[in-house]
Amino acid sequence: MNRSGGLLWHARAWRRQGAWRGTCNHIRQWLEQTQPNSRELVIIGASAGWMMPSPWLQGFEKVTTLDIDRWAAPLFRWRHGPALKRSGTQLRCDTGDAIGDLPSLLAAHPDAAVLFDNVLGQLRFMHSSLDETVSCLDMIKRRMVGREWGSLHDAYSGAVRRAGRAREKMVMLQSLQVDGAVSTQPCEADLPIEPGLTAFAIQLEAEGEWLDHLTSQVFPAGTTVQHIAWHYSRHYCHWLQAGWVSSKQRFCRK
Ligand SMILES: C[S@@+](CC[C@H](N)C(=O)[O-])C[C@H]1O[C@@H](n2cnc3c(N)ncnc32)[C@H](O)[C@@H]1O
Repeated sequence: MNRSGGLLWHARAWRRQGAWRGTCNHIRQWLEQTQPNSRELVIIGASAGWMMPSPWLQGFEKVTTLDIDRWAAPLFRWRHGPALKRSGTQLRCDTGDAIGDLPSLLAAHPDAAVLFDNVLGQLRFMHSSLDETVSCLDMIKRRMVGREWGSLHDAYSGAVRRAGRAREKMVMLQSLQVDGAVSTQPCEADLPIEPGLTAFAIQLEAEGEWLDHLTSQVFPAGTTVQHIAWHYSRHYCHWLQAGWVSSKQRFCRK
């Protein structure tokens, strides 16, 4: 069973398009800031691109999507195909395990930027242990060194008290990734660490214990990270993180 996609996901995403509009606007704002160098994009965990803005995709010459869900390819073509045809963007939608086959995927698309589109935070549901999940995320991070790539993923999720009220107030916040040090190269980024992150957590009106999606070390140090609230249902919220990594960015010490 696919615990992060499939027909239930499509039905929910279709039904909640209105309720998720604020989150989708934040995702669009983040993507518009990314300014990728590559003319080709590979999207892993694309699903039907329910939360993906077509205009951002139109900036690429070629877009390839991958998902283990067999409904993803036809639905992605249905949602984004006409817009990409208008912009002359070549679109290919494939079905398969893009994370298990990451080395061959990267070899097949040597010049493409790669977007992990709300999939890395789901990996803890796909592996039998937390250790296995952490190793898989570490493997992905290492494989992506030297590549232009980005990820939007769950950082935490859990129950909220008053989703309706909180949803209207939520703003996107920015911080700088400072962990994940493995090299002695200095970090060149000089963005301030956003002090409002604690306030962001309070704004979510979280209740009880939240689930850690184990993604806190995904981005190399120096990556600018956007924090986005996603009110998945009336009483359950996901804290999404989004970052874009240039091909020249290195791991560096805190
Ligand atoms: C939360 S959904 C992504 C939503 C999507 N980005 C959108 O905007 O509609 C996560 C997706 O990741 C896919 N997925 C999970 N593991 C995968 C893998 N190893 N390779 C490719 N896709 C995978 C799931 O099938 C699911 O469609």
